[in-house]
Amino acid sequence: MAPTVTVVIPVFNRPAQVDRAIRSVLAQTYQDFEIVVIDDGSTDATTAVVAAFEDPRITLIRHERNRGGSAARNTGIRAGTAPYIAFLDSDDEWLPTKLERQLEVFGRSGDQLGLVYTGADRVEADGTVQRHIPRAIANLQSRGVRVVPHGITLSLGGAEPVDRSRVKRLAAVAKHLNAPLVSEHIAFVRAGGLEAGHLLPIARTRASLDVLVENVKIAQDLLPVPLALENISALFDWPGAELSEAEFLAAVFDRTGALMLLDLANVHANAKNLGGDPTVLLDSLPLHRLAYVHVGGGEERDGVYHDTHAHPVPAEAFALVEELASRTDVPGFMLERDEDFPSDAETNRELDAISSAVERGSQRRSERGAVSHGVNA
Ligand SMILES: [Fe+2]
Repeated sequence: MAPTVTVVIPVFNRPAQVDRAIRSVLAQTYQDFEIVVIDDGSTDATTAVVAAFEDPRITLIRHERNRGGSAARNTGIRAGTAPYIAFLDSDDEWLPTKLERQLEVFGRSGDQLGLVYTGADRVEADGTVQRHIPRAIANLQSRGVRVVPHGITLSLGGAEPVDRSRVKRLAAVAKHLNAPLVSEHIAFVRAGGLEAGHLLPIARTRASLDVLVENVKIAQDLLPVPLALENISALFDWPGAELSEAEFLAAVFDRTGALMLLDLANVHANAKNLGGDPTVLLDSLPLHRLAYVHVGGGEERDGVYHDTHAHPVPAEAFALVEELASRTDVPGFMLERDEDFPSDAETNRELDAISSAVERGSQRRSERGAVSHGVNA
C-alpha cells in the first residue's frame, strides 16, 4: 500500500547535512512516509552517505549531472507514490512533529486546502536558534518602527496567580524582536477554568487591586523589558466599586511602577457607555508614565458603543488625542485595526488626523506654557 507522504529531498554535495536531514525525517512522530532523495550529480561522499541508510522507505535517485534544485524536486515528485508531497532541503531539518501537525491541518480542512506551510527557525553555527520573524514585521523594524509585543491573555486581573508560562512566552517574543517593552491589559480573561475570549473589566475594589498588583509584579519579574498596562473598554461595571476608574488606574501604576499604554478610543467608549468626563480621567492619570497610545475605531449598535477595531476612528477619539497632546508629550501612537482593513488612502487619512490632532494639542500646550511663563515672570 502506498504511504501517505512522499518526502522529496534534493541534494548536491552535502554529505553531512543530508545525513542530518534524513535523520530528522526518520525521527518524525508521524511515520507513514517514503523518502525520495535525488542526488543531483554530487561528486563527493553524498551518494554513499544516502546509500548507507538501510531503511526500505528511502529511495535514492541519481542525476548524472547537476540540473538544479527545481529539476531535482520534479524528479522526486514523479517518483513519489503518496498522495501528499513534502519538500525538505538537504541543509534543513524538521522538528519531530512537523508532518503530524501538517497532516492534522489537512485532516480538518477539507478538499479546498492544497498546501500547508510552516514557520522556520534559523540555527546559527554555534547552535543558538533564531526564531523566524514574519517578513511584514521585519520590514517594519527595518524602517525604524518599534514593534511591541501585545499580550491579550495574561489575565493579570484574574483571581488566580498569573500563568508564568504565558509570561515567559511573552518574554521570549520580546527578546526575539528586540522589543523596547511589552504591553498587556488591565483586565481578566479567565476564571475557574473558563476562558471568556474577551477582555473583562476588573471589579474596582481594594481586594481586586491587591490581586492585580501582585500579578503585575510577578509578570514584571519574569519580563526582560518594561511592561506597559492598557486601560480597556467595558460594556458594564461590576457593582460595589470602591474606587473610580481614575483612582483604580492611578493606584495600579503607582504601586507597580508599570508604564502606561493609554487607549484613547477605550476612554471614549467608557465615557459613552458608562458616563463620566474623559478629560477628567486624562487629568487624573499619571501621564509621566505614558509609553504609547492606542487609537482605534468602533461603532454604535443599539445605543451601545463597541470598540471593534474594524470601523473608522470616531471624531471624539481624535479630539481626545488633541486633549492628551495638550497635556503631555506623546511618545508614540498605534492605530489599531484588526479586520475590514480600509484602503491605504483611508488609513493614511486616519494617521494624518492623529498627527493634526497632536499638532493642535501641542500648540495649545506651548501657548499655555508661554502664558504661564508670562504670568510668573
Ligand atoms: Fe487598545
